[in-house]
Order: sequence, then structure tokens, then C-alpha cells
Amino acid sequence: DEAAPADVPLSGRRVLVTAGGTREDLDPVRFLGNRSSGKQGFALASAAKQLGASVHLIAAHVEVELPTGLDTVTRVSSARELREATLVAAQGADVVIMAAAVADFRPADYADFKIKKTDDPGQDPVIHLVRNPDILRELVEHRSANREAGPQLIVGFAAETGDESASPLDYGRAKLARKGCDYLAVNTVSATQGFGTEVNTLTILSANGVEPLVTQGTKYEVSEDLLRHLAQHLNN
Ligand code: CTP
Ligand code: CA
Repeated sequence: DEAAPADVPLSGRRVLVTAGGTREDLDPVRFLGNRSSGKQGFALASAAKQLGASVHLIAAHVEVELPTGLDTVTRVSSARELREATLVAAQGADVVIMAAAVADFRPADYADFKIKKTDDPGQDPVIHLVRNPDILRELVEHRSANREAGPQLIVGFAAETGDESASPLDYGRAKLARKGCDYLAVNTVSATQGFGTEVNTLTILSANGVEPLVTQGTKYEVSEDLLRHLAQHLNN
């Protein structure tokens, strides 16, 4: 009997995944951070490997163990470190998935020594923030500058809650247009879904007329669905 053909739609493809939350240092012992667990990015990296891809994971700060069996793993801390590593690694990738929670801002100044209290509360520090680079937009801009060099597919992730004036998907569509990426996976965050939880709902929006895909399940299941969807839209 012949073995069943392997289910590897990403065979021969190089997939770059960023995961986790960046930390923006204030002084040698303090930082600004976020609650990203890294689970979604890790699930994407593991699922891409399972589907036959060569996988490079760039991990910022996470709450869970790094997946094993990947081809390359790079650790970073701040948004600027993540930017450097991602822009270099993207040059060799077919697909880039930005699942990392990148801090939008960082402290304008880094204190070389631990910030101390004084006796006078009037002297308490005020932290000024400056904007971090938008890595996803830079990936898109670099590709526009040199179409052959860039990855075929650039995928963003967005956690959206919606509000009185707009739904999560309204915000997702606007973000997809603003970022200029090919796909945006919109994660609908509520009290019981999203950060740190096991079940996710993803709506995968396309910039190129592909019908949106809605998928629900564990972070691994939605990752696999997203990657199969992407695999269908990769050229040779
Ligand atoms: N992203 C990025 N660089 C940044 C901020 C975000 O590459 N400085 C990426 C994220 O990794 C994600 C996508 O952009 O894939 C969307 O992130 P999100 O925070 O939802 O978008 P923002 O443009 O920062 O919008 P918001 O004001 O809603 O935070
Ligand atoms: Ca943001």
C-alpha cells in the first residue's frame, strides 16, 4: 500500500512569525510592557512547521515555553530590537506574520541608573513617551520599494473590541487599509476571549478581494486555518 500523501501545503515555504510582547525599558530595573502571552504566535509557528514550512520565530517576552522543532528562533526585548530582527529575517521569507504585540510608545529617555524617590512628592517623575516604529508598515514599504525581494504575503494581527460607533470588523478593515498589508487577522477580544485564553475567533480580512475567512477554536486550530488559507493564495 502507498502511504497517504503528506498534508504539507507549506512545503518549501519560509514562514517568519513574530510573537510575544515587547518591553520598553525605563531604567535598569523597570519597563513598560503588555499582557501578550505569546501563545498565538507560538501556535502559528508550530502549525506552520506542521504544515511543512521552514519556520523562523522571533519571540519577544512571553508567558509560555518556546515551541520546539522550529528552524530558527531569535529572542528580542524592545520594539526596536524586534524591528531590526524582523526586517532582516523578512528578506528571506515567503510569508511574514506579525503576531507580536509591539509597544506603540516607549519612554523618551532611558535612565542609566535606577530612578529614585526623593523626599519631595513634587519632584515625582513624569514619563514622556515617544512613538515606536511601525514594523508592519515598514515591511510593506520595503516590499513596495523592491517587489522581488519582499515576502509574498505580509500578515498583521489586530485585537479589536469595537465600541458604540464601530464594530471590531469596521476597525479591522480600516486598519488593514492603513497598514497596507495583504491580510489582517482580526481577533475579537471580549472578557472571555483573546489575551491568554484558549479559544479564539479570528476573522481573516484580505486586501486583494479574497473572501474573509472566519475561524474559531484553539489558538492552534485557528492558526492552522489561517495558514491553510494563506497557502491557497501563495504563487509558485
Ligand atoms: N505592529 C507593528 N509595529 C507597531 C505596532 C503594531 O508591526 N509599532 C503590528 C502588530 O504586530 C500587528 C499589527 O501591527 O500585526 C496591528 O497592531 P495594532 O496594535 O492592532 O495596530 P496599531 O496600528 O498599533 O493600532 P492601535 O492604535 O489600534 O494600537
Ligand atoms: Ca498598537
